[in-house]
Amino acid sequence: MTSRVVLGVSGGIAAYKACELLRRFTESGHDVTVVPTAAALEFVGAPTWAALSGKPVATDVWTDVHAVPHVHIGQEADLVVVAPATADLLARAAHGLADDLLTSTLLTARCPVVFAPAMHTEMWEHPATQANVATLRSRGAVVVEPAEGRLTGADTGKGRLPDPAEIFELAVGVLHRGAAPQDLAGRKVVVSAGGTREYLDPVRFLGNRSSGLQGHALARAAASRGAHVTLVSANVSLPDPAGVSVVRVETTEQLREAVVAATATADAVVMAAAPADFRPSAVSDAKIKKADDGSAPAIELVQNPDVLAEISHHRAREDAVIVGFAAETGDATGSVLDLGRAKLARKGCDLLVVNDVSGGAVFGSADNEAVVLAADGAVVEVPRGSKSALAHVIWDEVARRFAD
Ligand code: CTP
Repeated sequence: MTSRVVLGVSGGIAAYKACELLRRFTESGHDVTVVPTAAALEFVGAPTWAALSGKPVATDVWTDVHAVPHVHIGQEADLVVVAPATADLLARAAHGLADDLLTSTLLTARCPVVFAPAMHTEMWEHPATQANVATLRSRGAVVVEPAEGRLTGADTGKGRLPDPAEIFELAVGVLHRGAAPQDLAGRKVVVSAGGTREYLDPVRFLGNRSSGLQGHALARAAASRGAHVTLVSANVSLPDPAGVSVVRVETTEQLREAVVAATATADAVVMAAAPADFRPSAVSDAKIKKADDGSAPAIELVQNPDVLAEISHHRAREDAVIVGFAAETGDATGSVLDLGRAKLARKGCDLLVVNDVSGGAVFGSADNEAVVLAADGAVVEVPRGSKSALAHVIWDEVARRFAD
């Protein structure tokens, strides 16, 4: 059956981004009713919402009164998403006001509710807003942490609406699975993602095929389970996951610095990135030119630091759970799992997620299949499924070790 989604839009400049979110819902076959506040209509008019949703749009409770929309829209919803949620909307929702169609809908809805706040940093950080967010979360609503970056005007800070594609991912997850258990609430976790680049000169680099999809799935999954997530992202061309702090790096040395810094206080670290093992011994300041005689330059390589081995063998916190990945193909010296076991011991981490990458099937793919090996001897086989499903299994294993 088609899922019924209510898209609530409150009056902030980020209302225009909700058009993209609406398209994603309608194009994936959801039945969407848009309920903008009067202030939202100052930013994006009713015809836009009506055209994109294919339905009439109302903001007050006096339109089509005979159909009792202030009750029915909420009662019949499978999911309510409010994006952007302004400080004012969060306050009205937290206090149970019902002074327009959106707040009435929030009171009558019994389905999961997702708020994606967007506002200036000062408004977000104000104790009143934080208390309202805490109240809404305590009642089971999912309130996404705003992103950091450029705000309206010239200033930057926390308060941006996350990328609509990421709000969509999160909302669809909540629609199908409900709000995730908050078993990582209060935990600080670090995830590395993507592949590093090692420069030869200002325009050329040695790189690898890592897409960052698995690291992003891990960051998203941890955020949905309540963790404070730092994502150390190496050259990933995906939107930032919602509710996650992102540190961008290019080289293995920069990744090492960012991971080591974030690891000092972290409860868990998952190294899903593919840091280059080698870098050119020298980086030319100028672009390297072709030689007239047709010869090619020899590139001398030196080894990069092994970040996973370093943070595992020299632990900032003894009780932190450290997870590595191993992309193996198996060879004459052993099977994929033999090599995985040897790598787990060598790296000194607590869990190693072993992928069989023979044939390159995993790179850039939405799916993954793995075996999770634990230093305590446990083996968890994860059948082929989404990278999100594997991410949740990995956090299950991490959370279990927190509890021990
Ligand atoms: N890793 C790391 N630093 C590096 C290379 C890899 O932290 N310089 C981490 C990866 O993030 C991953 C794990 O180590 O979690 C396994 O990476 P892999 O490349 O498979 O291991 P290698 O150390 O390269 O092992 P080998 O080349 O001996 O197979």
